[in-house]
Amino acid sequence: MNDRFLRACRRELTDCTPVWFMRQAGRYMPEYRAIRARYGFLEMVKTPELAAEITMQPVQALAIDAAIIYADILPPLEGMGLQLSYEKGEGPVIHNPLRSAADIAALRQPDPRETVAYTLNAIRLVKGELTGRLPLIGFSGAPFTLASYAIEGGGSREYRRTKQLMYREPAAWHALMAKLARLVSDYALAQIAAGADAIQLFDSWVGALSPADYVEFVLPYVQQVITAIHAATIDGAPGTPIIYFGTGLSGMYGLLRQSSAEVIGVDWRSTLDDAWAQLGPGVAVQGNLDPHTLFAPWELIERRATDVLDRAAGRPGHIFNLGHGILTETPVENVARLAEFVHAYSSIHHHV
Ligand code: CP3
Repeated sequence: MNDRFLRACRRELTDCTPVWFMRQAGRYMPEYRAIRARYGFLEMVKTPELAAEITMQPVQALAIDAAIIYADILPPLEGMGLQLSYEKGEGPVIHNPLRSAADIAALRQPDPRETVAYTLNAIRLVKGELTGRLPLIGFSGAPFTLASYAIEGGGSREYRRTKQLMYREPAAWHALMAKLARLVSDYALAQIAAGADAIQLFDSWVGALSPADYVEFVLPYVQQVITAIHAATIDGAPGTPIIYFGTGLSGMYGLLRQSSAEVIGVDWRSTLDDAWAQLGPGVAVQGNLDPHTLFAPWELIERRATDVLDRAAGRPGHIFNLGHGILTETPVENVARLAEFVHAYSSIHHHV
């Protein structure tokens, strides 16, 4: 098995820097668009055979060191009673967003083994197809990012309703975050039981918060989730690594360290070495090329990727990734060339 990715999560030495890409399966790939033309997005996510096939598309096309299950962060909310759809050009919409303490009290606490069984079945299928060649990453939204969609009813720029609920109805906020923390840890544990080798927690929008609000209203729930995952021993195999990812966190990496995740995802608003210095030793780092760079001429992509790798400087525990997901129109050949470049450059310059 290619275990570079898992070794890097544990900060062990590797022959070269492992690489994978957030949103590595998606519309930038012609073979994805061919399936997408025939099915709706939720239909793809909820059909394990399709989700497994799509998960494998980038594994076949790119020299990546991990697969990530094809799913989305929002479907687990359906089991709580939220109504979800994906509208063309708009992204996700929740049709009955949370607007009061009563809405939050009425949320169910679902068992993801029942309500998200399709993704767990997709994980089992992918594990069968990977036959140990590559590790498989499972994932979940983190409580704050899930709460923001549940409250705003979709994407948001300012998170006004989310912050208002947090400040004006703190008891309701804490009740919601406790339910979401339980959902996220149950879901992550179910994915590990189904075969996921690592779990990424997407807290994509947490950079909207001040450090003080993050500490008071969010961090305790991230800690609850990670403690619950760490505490569980599945099939005698403890220690499934957890990657905690957010964006727009430039000065907050010291706080993220307190999540006790094994790996922290870094976006492009910080340099990798600066974020790593804030984090301190004893933690692995994933990132952090700006995904827009992939639209540039190869010469610039190579310079920027080299900069990321030189800032990591071969320290054990660097996983190369973008600072956020691959964008829709990205040229596939640049993604393929980047994965190969990361391996070649890092094996020559930074690894023995
Ligand atoms: O990384 C991967 O390849 C795994 C699959 C994955 C998807 N979404 C597939 C997807 C993962 C890990 C996600 C996570 C996700 N989903 C996040 C956190 C990461 C991030 O990007 O910040 C968030 C916030 C969502 C919510 C979401 N889902 C949005 C905002 C959108 C619409 C934007 C868009 O690109 O259309 C989605 C839809 C979505 N999720 C698509 C894919 C491939 C596009 C669906 C399509 O084919 O039309």
